[in-house]
Amino acid sequence: MRVTVFGTKPYDRTFLDAANVAGRHKLLYFDERFNERTAVLQGDAPAACLFVNDTCDDDALTALAQQGCRLVALRCAGFNNVDLRAAQRLGLKVVHVPAYSPFAVAEHALGLILCLNRKIHRAYNRLREGNFALHGLLGFDMHGRTVGIVGTGKIGMILARTLAAMGCRVLAYDPYPNPQLMQFGGAYVELPEIWKSADVISLHCPLTPQSHHLVNAASIARMKRGVMLVNTSRGGLVDTEAVIQALKSGQIGHLALDVYEQEADLFFENLSDTIIQDDQFQLLLTFPNVLITGHQAYFTAQALTNIAETTMANLTAFEQGGPLPNEVTADRLK
Ligand code: NAI
Repeated sequence: MRVTVFGTKPYDRTFLDAANVAGRHKLLYFDERFNERTAVLQGDAPAACLFVNDTCDDDALTALAQQGCRLVALRCAGFNNVDLRAAQRLGLKVVHVPAYSPFAVAEHALGLILCLNRKIHRAYNRLREGNFALHGLLGFDMHGRTVGIVGTGKIGMILARTLAAMGCRVLAYDPYPNPQLMQFGGAYVELPEIWKSADVISLHCPLTPQSHHLVNAASIARMKRGVMLVNTSRGGLVDTEAVIQALKSGQIGHLALDVYEQEADLFFENLSDTIIQDDQFQLLLTFPNVLITGHQAYFTAQALTNIAETTMANLTAFEQGGPLPNEVTADRLK
């Protein structure tokens, strides 16, 4: 089957080609991100393979459907960037990769927590200049600290279990509690209790209309002073302006982000020769207690292999007209 693959980097092509056994699918790679304007590249291919920051709104999906496309194959887990109702109306099937390596993301979140706490990013720079002073590098023991996990699906549960093994007290919130949490001493509480009690809060829920700006001025005000906030999930979960104000006042003591509300204009590109116009992002970079990575939590060899293999399986299932085990439909939004 002919498949357009938008927004690809060399590493995407390497892993997708390896998983495309015997060249079964004809993969038409484009550097361009998918949006209403670039949708014209679809041509007569029946499927489009898209990624996290592609703009799959009503207009863009309409442009796809008008060219005869019938499948949107996301090569990611999140589907918040796809207007699923529009897809349904247009008769476009949408599939995703529900799990590729929850360990990759959980381990990255843990790495951010430890790096930020012990200021390893700052120590690395200092030592390169012959500065061996410890002043400003003081951290805290994770052991005995209360960690709040928001969303205990695949990723959140792995992080919760790992932090519990490190001696943290784990509190979690999820509308669908998983009894596994209690097996390693974790406890489900309501969100306000997480805001009130947690020294470290890590977000692992999807971005939905309900979870948009879950972390906002009001919720931040209820948090412990000096709290560490970690977001490896989706940028829209956090109100960036409110977080900046809280960093300035000291209400938030540490911030780690792998995702950012306006990341679509920045992440995955080398912009080192350009003037970045996003003032909020530039301001965040100036804080010594902010650590940002550019949506790389998923970026391990195992995860890319799994993404590529599941994407090929999704394409083949569609081509064969059978059931689509990884289909996402508009009723997932309820
Ligand atoms: P999952 O679907 O296994 O778990 C999500 C959990 O969040 C579920 O248990 C669900 O009940 C819960 N949830 C839904 N709405 C909630 C709310 N309002 N408050 C609290 N919990 C809520 O998903 P998984 O695989 O654990 O991924 C979590 C998120 O991580 C994804 O939605 C995606 O946005 C993000 N992600 C980020 C990556 C990165 O590279 N930074 C890579 C992969 C996923």
